[in-house]
Amino acid sequence: MANDPAERPHKPKSKYTADRGMPGAYEGETVTRRALFTGGALAAGGLASAAFGLPALGFALGPIFERTEPESFEDVGPLADFNPQTYVPKMITIGADIGEPGKTTVYVRKHDPSRDTDHLGYPYVAISTRCAHLGCPVRYVQAAERFICPCHGGVYGFDGKVAGGPPVRPLDRFETKIQNGRVLVGPRFSVNSHLDKFHARDPSNHLDGLWKYLYPRRPTTP
Ligand code: FES
Repeated sequence: MANDPAERPHKPKSKYTADRGMPGAYEGETVTRRALFTGGALAAGGLASAAFGLPALGFALGPIFERTEPESFEDVGPLADFNPQTYVPKMITIGADIGEPGKTTVYVRKHDPSRDTDHLGYPYVAISTRCAHLGCPVRYVQAAERFICPCHGGVYGFDGKVAGGPPVRPLDRFETKIQNGRVLVGPRFSVNSHLDKFHARDPSNHLDGLWKYLYPRRPTTP
């Protein structure tokens, strides 16, 4: 007979709590009440956390997958509507199926090779009204040839470059083309301080120097 505990044959532990000598155990019970209530409390806590957490997560991540750009080119008027000296405000749709909130104003003028310094190659300049600081709508003032943001004093020049205030990059633009004697406005894009073209970025995203690597574009923004 082996006296060394290590040499004694191993007896499997009973699944019944009564056999395991648990105080207050019932005949045939396999899960202690403490374990049952602990599991129940954890499950209830998990459900409560999910009830609060999932909607918040959806709210936070939803905009990443939301498309806010025109699907295609939109007609904004005949060529005769535009000239190189001033901008003409036009309404375009950037969010389909949501009515008025999906519309935005875009300032359009004819490209002027003698004045414009960009090499973007578009025949018309279409400037977004969304301020590159925090997104307030800017307004074009012809007398000053400036775009003015009412929120924090952002000022942009005639070509949309930052002339003062907190904006971190020029105003966004839209692609343009001519078709059958009419001006069409297409997808939005962003530009850096040299008016180099980038995929559309959100307001406050820098696009110059190393900063542009800290502000990658959203996956679904064209
Ligand atoms: S949102 Fe335009 S300056 Fe702040």
